[in-house]
Order: sequence, then C-alpha cells, then structure tokens
Amino acid sequence: MKGIFTTPEAAIFAANQSLKELSCKSQSEINLYIKSIRKFLLDNDRIKTLSQMAVEETGMGRAEHKIAKNTLAITKTPTNKTTDQHSYVGDLGITLEGKKPYGIIGAITPITNPSETIICNTIGMLSSGNTVVFCPHPNAKKVSFQAIAWLNEALVQSGAPENLVTTYEEITMENTDYIISNPSISMLVATGGPAIVNKVLKSGKKAIGASAGNPPVVVDETADLNKAARDIINGASLDNNLPCLAEKELIAVESIADQLIFNMTNEGAYLLRDKKLIEQLTKIAITEEGKINTKFVGKSASVFLTELGIEVDYDCLLIIFECDKSHPIVTTELLMPILPIVRAKDISEAIDIAFKSEGGNFHTSVIHSKNIDNINRMFTKMNTTIFVQNAPSYAGIGLGSEGYASFTIAGVTGEGLTNSTSFAKKNHKVLVESFA
Ligand code: COA
Repeated sequence: MKGIFTTPEAAIFAANQSLKELSCKSQSEINLYIKSIRKFLLDNDRIKTLSQMAVEETGMGRAEHKIAKNTLAITKTPTNKTTDQHSYVGDLGITLEGKKPYGIIGAITPITNPSETIICNTIGMLSSGNTVVFCPHPNAKKVSFQAIAWLNEALVQSGAPENLVTTYEEITMENTDYIISNPSISMLVATGGPAIVNKVLKSGKKAIGASAGNPPVVVDETADLNKAARDIINGASLDNNLPCLAEKELIAVESIADQLIFNMTNEGAYLLRDKKLIEQLTKIAITEEGKINTKFVGKSASVFLTELGIEVDYDCLLIIFECDKSHPIVTTELLMPILPIVRAKDISEAIDIAFKSEGGNFHTSVIHSKNIDNINRMFTKMNTTIFVQNAPSYAGIGLGSEGYASFTIAGVTGEGLTNSTSFAKKNHKVLVESFA
C-alpha cells in the first residue's frame, strides 16, 4: 500500500524526501493535487468503502452517516488562501507578510472520525506545502491505512511526488512517541482523547490540540419547537453521537419542555421514563470509577435499548430522558446516542446550566431561540469555538451551512476550525529601498 512504511524512521525519511520535491512546486500545482484527491475519493464508491470499513473495524458509528462526514471532509475542506499575503509599501521599500510550511507534520488521528480527519488534515497540511506522517488510532488502523494509500494514489496520478503522506505499520505508543520527539518533525497536530492531546502539547514543539467537548443545546420559549426537535435529534444522533461537536445534553426552559419532549418522541427519539431503567442505562454508559464505558462508545441506540430489555420496531436514533443538572450523563461526554434533558425555570438558568455542563472545554454550544437577546447572552457566556443557532450542531462544520469543514477543532490551542492557515508559519520578506 502506498505511503505505509515498516518503521516510523522510514515513514519520516520518505516524507522528508517528498518535502524536498514539494518545496519546488507552485501553489497552482499543489491546488491541482488537491483537486485530484477530491475527485479520486469521490469516484468508485471509495467513500462508501471507507465508511463501511470504519464501522466494521472500530465497531462505532453508522456507515450512512460516515458517508456524509467523509463527503464533507472531501468537498468542504478548504485549500490554501493566497489572500493570506499582506504587503506594506512605502518610501523605505516593501515588506511582504506571508506564510511558509512548517515542514513535516506529525498528525495523530482519532478512532471516532478516522478517515475524515486524515482526509481533512491532508488537504489542509499539503495546501500549505507540508508533508505528513500520520499516527492513526491503533483500533482504526485498517481504515486509516486505506485512506492514506488512496490519498497517495490520487496524488501520484496528478503528478505529485510520492509519499506526501505516510505512516508506519506498527501503531504503538512507543512509535507515536518516536514521531512526537523526532527532530525532523517540526509540528504536531493531535485530534483525539485528552491523554494523547496533552502529551503532544507538552512536547515542546509547535502543537495543535483538538480534544473533548461536552456541547449543550438550550431551547427557550420562543423557539420553533418542531424544528428544534428535529435538529436536535439529527445533530445528537449523527454517527451515534461520535463527533465532538454533537449535542450532548439538552436544557429546556420549563414552559416549553413538555412540548419539546413530545415533539422529539414524535420524531423518533425514545423517551425513557422509568427511574430504574435510567439508572440501569447510566450504569451501562458510565463505569463505577466514573469513566465512560468505552465498550459502548458510538453504539446505536438500539444496542442500549436491547441491553435494557426494550424492543422497538423502528431504527431508533436517540434515547432521551429527564434528569437533574448534576446527573453524570449531563456532566460526562459519552459519545453515545443518549441525550439527557434538564429543565430550567428561565433562559438565565438554562444558560447557567449549559455553561457548567460544558465543563470549561469551550468547544461547542447550540441554541434554539428567536430572541436575539437570549442568543447573544448565551453566545457571550459560553465563549465556545463553535456556536450554532437554530440548526443541528453539525452546521458548525459546514454541513448544511456556509463556511468550511474541519475535523480538527482546536479549541485548546485556539486555531478553532483548523485549515491550511493553521499549518503554516508567518514570515516577512523585507525589501529596503527597492520598488518603492
Ligand atoms: N498511537 C498509539 N497508541 C495510541 C494512539 C496513537 N496515535 N492513540 C491512542 N492510542 C492508544 C492509547 O494509548 C490506549 O492504549 P492503552 O489501552 O494501552 O492505554 C489505546 O490506544 C486507546 O486509547 P484511547 O482511544 O485514547 O482511549 P479509550 O479507549 O479509553 O477512549 C475514546 C476511547 C473514543 C473515548 C477516545 O479515543 C476519545 O475520547 N476519542 C475522542 C476523539 C475526538 O473525537 N476528539 C475530538 C475531535 S475534535
């Protein structure tokens, strides 16, 4: 398979060779390579294959939703913006402020969005003239390797150098550590769980970290409750709630809570009423040590219902239940299609609960409201990287909205939705007393 090497040393060596070749290419040539990636991956059901492979290998998510996510990564990840250049012209000459590549980037990619993140990182990183050595999640190795091999095939077909994106066969923490500490790797980008992201941030190198969120959605008394119910189910059930920006708890203003819950059940959410069953569900989702039960991450709602001895005759997308604001499913990011609902007496209390449940990740928050003051208050208080109003959370990454896609949402290090600009460093070219 193209781009897959036996050792991390060999992967770095190959990425270094291709970096030398890439540095001689123009931006227009690089843009053509990216165009080829988009076409190649959209052809011949390759997206479907990657999506099915991910579900089979990781046991997480839904293939049909992964198709939407992969398509989004391929079509809406932006290429380099040449408008990033600034010039300062005056009596003393010209100074050009521009961007240069970092070199070889070490990119750690997650189990939750494996091929999506690899495709998205590749487009952004190559656009800025970098090459990449990927350290994929060990439990998403096969699908990650397939994505890397196809990216190389698409690139070579368009005349690009070989091995612009590489990886190595044995995915172990030792080998990931090797990539993190190797002097040839000039930038690190980690998309994953908090442990691996913190490790990268402590590396002493330029690093971008994209980690957990626990996004709340607030619904007030002015919202269109039919649309809110539909949007929340669609957002919270996308790929069985694996995306870090998916709605993870719902806070509804008391006066509309009953109607909203009724609408959600009409739209296919399963409302769990029995206290004992809610307790049982909590024990399935969260271990005695208070950690999420990774065995159930990304499983379908039907899997949880079966565990609870409940049978439904339709493809249920989301389980909902009412609870107190301090319930562990409210305060813990599960990555499961389970949405706890908390009642608030008014918008002030709702925003307050949303802020506390989000847990200081400052990742994503959502509101359904037609009251501009309420929207503004929540926007200001939450201070999240992504803030969505009157739409499913995934509108935050360009799905059904304007803007662009990113699967590396870097709240921790402040790049936000990473794009090619995040993977380039600023430089100044100064020309004194010429062309003035
Ligand atoms: N290279 C080598 N090993 C790796 C690795 C990598 N790139 N990434 C993870 N691992 C290892 C871990 O060290 C761990 O090994 P261990 O079992 O020996 O301790 C194992 O793989 C599992 O790691 P991890 O997935 O982090 O832990 P988990 O199984 O407890 O958690 C999830 C599973 C899904 C909860 C976790 O991966 C997660 O939070 N993912 C979210 C990712 C995400 O989407 N982030 C935000 C995107 S914007």
